Amino acid sequence: MGTCGTCAVKITGNVSPPSTREKLRLNFPPHKIEYGLRLACQVQVFDDIEIHKYEGFWGEKVIDRKINY
Ligand code: FES
Repeated sequence: MGTCGTCAVKITGNVSPPSTREKLRLNFPPHKIEYGLRLACQVQVFDDIEIHKYEGFWGEKVIDRKINY
């Protein structure tokens, strides 16, 4: 459903754009939209992708905050 936020990851590759629901969850603590994360459970994958899961229960401990969204 994209509500818990625990599947947040950094994704590099060809995937679907975030829905309004996903954007709302990714802008609700502990996440911030500018972290550039995606909810893995909400992403449709179109090709090979690279995923990085950050530390923290929600994967919220983003070290590199210069990620492009
Ligand atoms: S938001 Fe809960 S599993 Fe993705």
